[in-house]
Amino acid sequence: MGNKLQYQSAFLALAFLFATLISIADGTLVGNPLGSGSGRQQPKSQVIPIMNASGPESLAFDRLGGGPYTGVSDGRIIKWDVENNRWINFAVTTPHRWGCEGSHDHTLTEDRCGRPLGLSFNLRTGDLYIADAYMGLLVVGPQGGLAKPLATQAQGIPFKFANAVVVDHNSSVVYFTDTSTVFQRRDYVTALISGDKTGRLMKYDLRTKQVTVLMNNLMFPNGVALSKNKDYLLVVETTNSRILRYWLKKPMAGKVEVFAQLPGLPDNIQINHKGEFWVAMNAIKLTNLQGFLWVSKPPADFDGLGLAVKLNENGTIVQVLEDKEGNVWRYSSEVHEKLGSLWIGSVLVSFVARLAISGP
Ligand SMILES: *[C@@H]1O[C@H](CO)[C@@H](O)[C@H](O)[C@H]1NC(C)=O
Ligand SMILES: *[C@@H]1O[C@H](CO)[C@@H](O)[C@H](O)[C@H]1NC(C)=O
Ligand SMILES: *[C@@H]1O[C@H](CO)[C@@H](O)[C@H](O)[C@H]1NC(C)=O
Repeated sequence: MGNKLQYQSAFLALAFLFATLISIADGTLVGNPLGSGSGRQQPKSQVIPIMNASGPESLAFDRLGGGPYTGVSDGRIIKWDVENNRWINFAVTTPHRWGCEGSHDHTLTEDRCGRPLGLSFNLRTGDLYIADAYMGLLVVGPQGGLAKPLATQAQGIPFKFANAVVVDHNSSVVYFTDTSTVFQRRDYVTALISGDKTGRLMKYDLRTKQVTVLMNNLMFPNGVALSKNKDYLLVVETTNSRILRYWLKKPMAGKVEVFAQLPGLPDNIQINHKGEFWVAMNAIKLTNLQGFLWVSKPPADFDGLGLAVKLNENGTIVQVLEDKEGNVWRYSSEVHEKLGSLWIGSVLVSFVARLAISGP
């Protein structure tokens, strides 16, 4: 078992490394592949490199539409300054930042420097909520700076791998995930292939400062999204290649069902202005065979290095976005739709990609 785990870890690590070495060119946007397709379009695309750090895992825009903001491997949260065409430093999640920035392998220092993954602005107050893999749940004001810790444990069990957060703008509640109580972020491959199921979906109430566990025993809970009418949450369970729906509104409150089963390893999930959901995926699937998890390729219909799907409110795939050769983007962690663009982040590359999906 130990050897098999090591072998599989090495395989995944190599696959990821290889992917990051492929060069950048033009991409394709594929319409609905399931029949009544709108056909192929050639989108305008832009690649925005990040210097001296990598892994823009999730993306957020502030209440004025500024950004995107993203957390990177050296623990900084940076903001894309459109006017000046550059990234600027916005926030950090710990004051202990000596030696955090630089050309060393950031996974060696991320437990001390922080690794902000999930970001979500409260569009009413302008505050940015942060799920940092090592620092837990934090908040920082519209001016940025040093974020303030809000929660680091629930029911006496410390978070080990806080991952995603979503704000309910008009209430005092934020929802977030802790991927594992056993494995840290830098051991995420082991967390995946060992079938760890210690992840939790939680809510934090700003008024009472209380954390409530909504779901336990999840297998690599990852992205979380709130429905347009705020009647349910969607939580990605990466190891199981699926999305669960957790009902918030009565009479269904507390009920859980499978919302969608997906052809890859889903990461973050983001709602668009229509109430549809973009789910970013790594195009590698873990297949459960006789109790062991094996790495396999996804079905032939979905063989891109860059792979994301759009789901409607009923969990049906209504669009597939692929970059088959991984030319412009690949191994996406997040797809964020904003004013006719899809912004794509990945924990494995050192750039953010933007694809135009409509308009000039
Ligand atoms: C990257 O790091 C080098 C060396 O530490 C530094 O000189 C340079 O200004 C950095 N670049 C950016 C864009 O931060
Ligand atoms: C908050 O609620 C008010 C009134 O209930 C509404 O007008 C406003 O659009 C809501 N804001 C957000 C960000 O949902
Ligand atoms: C979702 O399902 C409901 C109930 O079956 C249906 O009324 C609605 O039109 C569906 N929505 C979409 C976008 O297909």
